[in-house]
Amino acid sequence: MSEDAWAALADQFADEAYASVKGHVRTYVMHRHLLEHLPVQPASVLDVGGGAGHQSFPLARAGYDVTLLDSSPAMLDKASQRLARLPEQARRRVTLVEADGERADEAVDGRRFAAVLCHGVLGYLERPEPMVDQLCRCAAAGGIVSIMTGNADASAVRPALERRWDDALASFDARTEIGVLGVPGRADTVDEVSELIRDRGVEPVRWYGVWLFVDWLEFSGAELDASDSRQVAATAEVELEASRRDPYRQLSRVFHLVGRKGQV
Ligand SMILES: C[S@@+](CC[C@H](N)C(=O)[O-])C[C@H]1O[C@@H](n2cnc3c(N)ncnc32)[C@H](O)[C@@H]1O
Repeated sequence: MSEDAWAALADQFADEAYASVKGHVRTYVMHRHLLEHLPVQPASVLDVGGGAGHQSFPLARAGYDVTLLDSSPAMLDKASQRLARLPEQARRRVTLVEADGERADEAVDGRRFAAVLCHGVLGYLERPEPMVDQLCRCAAAGGIVSIMTGNADASAVRPALERRWDDALASFDARTEIGVLGVPGRADTVDEVSELIRDRGVEPVRWYGVWLFVDWLEFSGAELDASDSRQVAATAEVELEASRRDPYRQLSRVFHLVGRKGQV
């Protein structure tokens, strides 16, 4: 395994980003999307590049059996720490696996899952195909594949809101940028990722945006108070609605695509 590129980012991502209003919105909106497609509990979920478990631990709490696979020991440490704080019942439903997502099938011994998640990972890979291959392979017949990644069609949003006008002009057709975590990231389009999964036997079912207004507010300099739980909950409901509709979802800097594998 190569050196742990995520070690330096683990605290920033797992503790800081998710503690923000944007982090709450991401967790809430993604969870609600997933519940629209998952079978009833207890079904098995594989979270590839699952990080500290922010996306899949809520599913364990809701009764799903979760296998979280990640290549970063530092992120898996974070996941273990967070796991220890889950109620006993949920904790027993989670397994952590250290492996490259590109070798997920082998790492889970060929097991097939009712849902395979891959959120916020493709953008850090040079090419998405080897990972998408594994995601589609690990899904059971009739199971879902859930991919969240950067939206190449909305690449001018961030530089424009940060009033970096030269960068904004150059970004319309750009595929890479230095992301909010300070590392280079690559974006894809909904159509491209849809085609990638379709080629691998997974039919796209629905796509969503993830965050919009909180993202725009933050980049334009507004302070959002994550301790005001009523405000945060109200914000999350608005974001959920926007994530489902045009034109809002098209302008979200990240998208969430859900596909279903055919009955092979
Ligand atoms: C931005 S974090 C997202 C974590 C989690 N999916 C979430 O949405 O909260 C990206 C994660 O992908 C993991 N990762 C990156 N490349 C990977 C690969 N090739 N195989 C497995 N995990 C990978 C990193 O270690 C990190 O935990």
